[in-house]
Amino acid sequence: SAKPRLFSGMQPSADSLQLGNYIGALLQWKELQSTHDAIFCVVDLHAITVPQDPVQLRAATRRTAAQYIAAGIDPAQSILFVQSQVAAHPQLAWMLNTITGFGEASRMIQFKEKSQKQGADGTNVGLFTYPVLQAADILLYDAEIVPVGEDQRQHIELTRDLANRFNTRFGHTFVEPEAVIQKETAKVYDLQAPTNKMSKSASSTAGVVWMLDEPAVTAKKIMSAATDSGREVRFDSVEKPGISNLLTIYAVLSGRTIADIEREYDGHGYGDFKKGLAEVTVDTFSPIRARTLELLDDPAELDRILAGNADRAAGIADATLARAYDRMGF
Ligand code: ADP
Ligand code: NA
Repeated sequence: SAKPRLFSGMQPSADSLQLGNYIGALLQWKELQSTHDAIFCVVDLHAITVPQDPVQLRAATRRTAAQYIAAGIDPAQSILFVQSQVAAHPQLAWMLNTITGFGEASRMIQFKEKSQKQGADGTNVGLFTYPVLQAADILLYDAEIVPVGEDQRQHIELTRDLANRFNTRFGHTFVEPEAVIQKETAKVYDLQAPTNKMSKSASSTAGVVWMLDEPAVTAKKIMSAATDSGREVRFDSVEKPGISNLLTIYAVLSGRTIADIEREYDGHGYGDFKKGLAEVTVDTFSPIRARTLELLDDPAELDRILAGNADRAAGIADATLARAYDRMGF
């Protein structure tokens, strides 16, 4: 096809995706899928680099896929598949491992941070080679565009380096992808600790808005979001990180500008503002939640969609893998 190929994915690391995943990933994916030949993956093989319960992993994988669809990823237009259903991913990762320097992998910031937290004995080798599996995910599809958060920039650089190195040594095989780094205006912070990124793997989830929260729970979390001691609804990420975060969320979910929202709440207290945001958020997630539950209610149909999409993905990935095998001497 003439459209540029795009690849992106998320880990099924919790039962629900969170507001930040929606604003920072799903919303952009939905927009990009019409202008790109888009492939979206639930990267369940990445999730086992930290301990996972098999029953929980299987459930979270299906729930994550259902949320992609419910949020607007069209599995007929785009390819939406589960990583473990396409065997080429770990196969290519092994080959790429053999052209990755130990020092090079040791310099990955995410690995350094996570392994420091977990200690040498709590860290498995899979976590070390995680970025190599990520490179395989991208290179298997000749992806030109990879939308990611700022924290993934270094991994996409590594992917480019590995593609280039393989091409130089063995002959042209892979496309060197470009990272499209998420805008700062698409970054969402924890509602209780508004200087930390909202995350599905946060140690305390009191400030995390889950896409599948019941509406009353969503509203309650927003009403009790941490704010500063002032009264003005004004964007100032240094002095007023809590209010600024809520303004960002409000603007993105309503499609309005921050200035317009500031004007609406001029002279009102934080309570009115939060009430307005709670409404906007509930209006956004209620239909997504309903659609997700509907999809999960018919597991055979969801499995059929995912199996069909895995076949489409494998059709591309297997051809790339065969090319790489051949070049390497197999
Ligand atoms: P999490 O921290 O929830 O596990 P990941 O780091 O695995 O999320 O990221 C999955 C996707 O969601 C990425 O595209 C990332 O940029 C996006 N994302 C995650 N958290 C946020 C956030 N708080 N604000 C904006 N985007 C986010
Ligand atoms: Na995470």
